[in-house]
Amino acid sequence: MITIEGLVKEFRVKNRDKKYIIKKAVDNLSLQVSKGEIFGLLGPNGAGKTTTIRMMTMEMQPTSGKILYAGRTSEADALAIKEMIGVVPQNINFDNDLTVGENMELHARLHHMPKNQRKQRIADMLDFVELSNTVNLMPRTLSGGMKRRLLIARALIHNPSILFMDEPTVALDPQVRRKIWDLIRSLAANGTTVILTTHYIEEAEALCDRVAIVNEGRLIALDTPEAFCQRMGKIAVEWDSPEGRQYRFFDTRKEAAVFAGELEHSAHIRRSNLEDAFIELTDREEGM
Ligand SMILES: Nc1ncnc2c1ncn2[C@@H]1O[C@H](COP(=O)(O)OP(=O)(O)OP(=O)(O)O)[C@@H](O)[C@H]1O
Ligand SMILES: [Mg+2]
Repeated sequence: MITIEGLVKEFRVKNRDKKYIIKKAVDNLSLQVSKGEIFGLLGPNGAGKTTTIRMMTMEMQPTSGKILYAGRTSEADALAIKEMIGVVPQNINFDNDLTVGENMELHARLHHMPKNQRKQRIADMLDFVELSNTVNLMPRTLSGGMKRRLLIARALIHNPSILFMDEPTVALDPQVRRKIWDLIRSLAANGTTVILTTHYIEEAEALCDRVAIVNEGRLIALDTPEAFCQRMGKIAVEWDSPEGRQYRFFDTRKEAAVFAGELEHSAHIRRSNLEDAFIELTDREEGM
């Protein structure tokens, strides 16, 4: 289990007058993630997702607040916690002078994996992401989807119990994305805790046990995807008006049909989804 309590990250940034101002990227964030859970962090660009992940993976020091990994803090148990954590970063960051296999080898060494285990583990992880035949290639020669899968294989090399994935499927085609979903599900089914960020709301809906929505560094809602949809009303009526696309939500299809029947415009009736909840919640915040 991972617990975050009152996490804050402030950056000192220079404004136009060359004066320093304090920018709060993460603002008093508290949440808990259970073992084996797939937990989604959602929020608009600049919401503070990557900053949160970087603090949780010990890449960055919080300004204040606490992170507990199974009750332990990174100050007290830095090395042990590093061994528990795997990271799939938002930006692809292979060493481009090394082959795929050498990149994996480097990572295994960084995690002090014994020599007699390294070769087999690298082969197994490349096999897991279906990249066995790339071991002697240079990473830059791989396609975008292959690079993302290689990032996952690299993150798993030391068998971490907690995997952080920052936009693991960005810019991937639907087939590759679904392959990565299957990988994530099989990891969680084997007890790995997965914390991921994504802008693909259907991805969070398909994968995540629970989802936290953050905006401007603050937690604005946390629930299961189903509960988010229930909160809105299970059925959506969607129609176009001169003011743009409009939505209303209802608990039953019957109520939705009565409402739609009274509209001047033709309307579409469908099940509500996490994207509806995301837009409602983040719009409402922006309007405040
Ligand atoms: N090293 C830094 N120095 C100064 N400001 C930063 C730094 N890193 C992030 N920020 C700022 O903190 C805020 C949160 O950024 P962050 O990268 O965490 O957002 P995000 O939710 O991951 O966004 P995206 O969806 O675009 O990846 C932004 O306003 C960003 O400009
Ligand atoms: Mg980010």
